[in-house]
Amino acid sequence: MAEQQDLPPEYTASYRTVADDADTTAGEHDVTMDKIVELCKRRGIIFQSSEIYGGLRGAWDFGPLGAALKDNVKNAWKRAMLQMRDDVVQLDASILMHPRVWEASGHVEGFTDPLVECTNCNQRWRADHLEPNKAGEIFCPNCGNKEFTDPKAFNLMFKTFVGPTEDTSAQVWMRPETAQAMFVDFAHIQLTSRQKVPFGIAQVGKSFRNEITPRNFIFRVREFEQMEMEFFVRPGTDEQWHDYWISQRWDWYVDHGMRVDNLRIRPHATDELSHYAKATVDVEYRFPFAWSELEGIANRTDFDLRRHSEFSGRDLSYFDQARDERYVPYVIEPAAGVDRSALAFLVDAYREDEAPTASGKVERRTVLKLHPALAPIKVAVLPLSRNEKLVPTARKVNDLLKSSFITQYDDAGAIGRRYRRQDEVGTPYCVTVDFETVEDDQKVTIRDRDTMAQDRVAVDQLVGYLSDRLPRC
Ligand code: GAP
Repeated sequence: MAEQQDLPPEYTASYRTVADDADTTAGEHDVTMDKIVELCKRRGIIFQSSEIYGGLRGAWDFGPLGAALKDNVKNAWKRAMLQMRDDVVQLDASILMHPRVWEASGHVEGFTDPLVECTNCNQRWRADHLEPNKAGEIFCPNCGNKEFTDPKAFNLMFKTFVGPTEDTSAQVWMRPETAQAMFVDFAHIQLTSRQKVPFGIAQVGKSFRNEITPRNFIFRVREFEQMEMEFFVRPGTDEQWHDYWISQRWDWYVDHGMRVDNLRIRPHATDELSHYAKATVDVEYRFPFAWSELEGIANRTDFDLRRHSEFSGRDLSYFDQARDERYVPYVIEPAAGVDRSALAFLVDAYREDEAPTASGKVERRTVLKLHPALAPIKVAVLPLSRNEKLVPTARKVNDLLKSSFITQYDDAGAIGRRYRRQDEVGTPYCVTVDFETVEDDQKVTIRDRDTMAQDRVAVDQLVGYLSDRLPRC
């Protein structure tokens, strides 16, 4: 009986796996990256960092709606990983850590990408990101030259210094992943939270990588946020837990509206595995540019705890009372990117279709069919016009709703244009206050973003109506 207790609970695995060398071409797509970038810039969702100075490559700013979208992605992840579980606890660790951490983890020695330099224009490139032309030749994307220096290993970690001296004794690294703090703090957290293996430690936070070629908008950047969870298990149960977490993470994307056809699980080939991993799969998303990694789910074995024990001199083994056995736990790690997930949710939600106009014609509309939990604004309150009879009631309706939902009040421009503005940022419901509302029935019109169907609902039933349709978030 005790044998079974530390295995995963029953679940149905619904994910789709492809071969490790599966074709990465994205095929026909509903949307281009240019359209996503344009929409994000125009609506202030995401735009270049330091734009007025010409921008900084690989750095992006999330404006009001983008920041809300990112918060919603993080909250949805925390809800699934922490709130809905009893076996995962949270950590918010320091970004700067003791430099020995990165020696033990293998990052100082091995966290590198192959760097080549064009012998003509001296531009530097990541060797494995240079696309061959039809003749199979590699050429410089900047000047077309075909000669490069030999590849050399370029470490992606950003260096900085603690304190006023800039010598090697003061040098530290900006963390390139959030994971290491979960290993370093394992024993302390296990003891103080009174968790028993199997259990997990989850963290959301910034990571930094000095990518040689940041690209594809916010897909590969130099400063980003990760959502990582290290799940500690008894050796021998690791493969079952690995499969369990692949299934959980697949379900999370699907439950948040991602289309199954745009998702796949790709196992790493043996020669692709990181130095610490026994097995890894990528959750891949069909981005307009290619099928690419959204999240990695690795079986990291006992590599990290053993290395940190060795380098720190602290025993990081675990005594399993139920089994009367001491062991170094194995670790299953679902590691996702906030920015990359936000991009995938944006791409997946983007549609262009037709909507009726006030004059009975139809017009093209752009609509983000975001899951309501992810939508930056949940409800827009729109008086039919700025007429002085309508505005006070519309303001009251907005005040009524804003303690329950993220709302936006908008009275600028024709009502059709205001619907379009909300559609293209993914607002699930628009509430319109008209003359009937104030002069007659105290009812408002609620318009559904996806079906464009309209319902008349009494103001005093509005919170209940919307609560039934919007998830707790
Ligand atoms: N602790 C394991 C780890 O960090 P990773 O596959 O290197 O694994 C996990 O990173 C996730 O972090 C990726 O799947 C991706 O979503 C995100 N990520 C990694 N590098 C990134 C970058 N340069 N820009 C944006 N997101 C990145």
